Amino acid sequence: MCLQTTEVLVNEAEQEWIEVVVPAKVALADGLAAQLVSAVPAARGGVQVRKGHVVFWVHPPKLETTLADVRACLRDLAEQGWLVDADKVRAGNLAPEEDWRDAWKKFFHTTRLTRQILVVPSWESHEPLATDIPIHLDPGQAFGTGAHASTQLVLETMQDLVDSGALPAPETVFDLGTGSGILAIAAAKYWPLTHITATDIDPLSIEATRENANANGVGDRIEVSTTDLANVKPRFPLVLANIQAHILRGLRDDLLERLLPGGTLLLSGILTAQIRPLVDFYCEGAVVELVSIRESKLNSEWSSAHLRRGD
Ligand SMILES: C[S@@+](CC[C@H](N)C(=O)[O-])C[C@H]1O[C@@H](n2cnc3c(N)ncnc32)[C@H](O)[C@@H]1O
Repeated sequence: MCLQTTEVLVNEAEQEWIEVVVPAKVALADGLAAQLVSAVPAARGGVQVRKGHVVFWVHPPKLETTLADVRACLRDLAEQGWLVDADKVRAGNLAPEEDWRDAWKKFFHTTRLTRQILVVPSWESHEPLATDIPIHLDPGQAFGTGAHASTQLVLETMQDLVDSGALPAPETVFDLGTGSGILAIAAAKYWPLTHITATDIDPLSIEATRENANANGVGDRIEVSTTDLANVKPRFPLVLANIQAHILRGLRDDLLERLLPGGTLLLSGILTAQIRPLVDFYCEGAVVELVSIRESKLNSEWSSAHLRRGD
């Protein structure tokens, strides 16, 4: 598994990357990669699964806190019975920007995510079919290359809504926890007149989304900011939120408040074991009802929910 987008270069010191190397038995590596992406902020930009270890990169000033985060994550997993050793986590090679990009080139290729959506990294060219919707994205520091099941689940549901005609082109869309902006960009490309409000608590995500939206020619229709959900005032016919279950739980009332009557809410980033309780919690009070739950074909540990607000 490998994840995510666009470099955000702030100053000279940040033009270098250092490897964080997490030893992992081959059979555990995919699962461990998913755990790291969920638990370690600096791994959101994307991890690579290699033989015997999982690797990701951080800028040097973030190394020490990241190593501490990874070790804490491994200690938690060890307590749950995983055969992982926090003491073996280490810093690897320092790589200039160019080498970092080369390292990604070996692993990150053009990938079809839905009938129409493809993610195309800057180092590959792609001859699109007439119906294709390419999204141009490179791995970076914000979550969302499309490689993660939780992102794909939302894209697949959007594709179904487009294909079935169940959702007419929405005038506006809200993407909460936009990461790289991948879902906002997909919405902007599915519906060429739609305006998207995208927010994230992580300032790196805001930079990445702006850059990616511009690279995809939709920057003028995506307004991105760190605005707190409680301060996002409009209501939307379509709301997307790919964030972990415990965060979604805390955001329920504010999130439901952002839905227009008849509006569609897609929740993702949820472990399959947690999807039913979360959906039940969202449906309490009957503001929204469940339309469907989708389990990932890529990784059945992840599921998403499609909810609809009453008219
Ligand atoms: C799993 S990533 C999803 C990224 C992208 N939307 C995708 O589908 O690939 C979740 C994102 O939510 C952001 N996030 C976490 N808590 C948040 C909150 N309370 N409000 C807004 N964004 C939040 C994180 O910074 C992260 O970028």
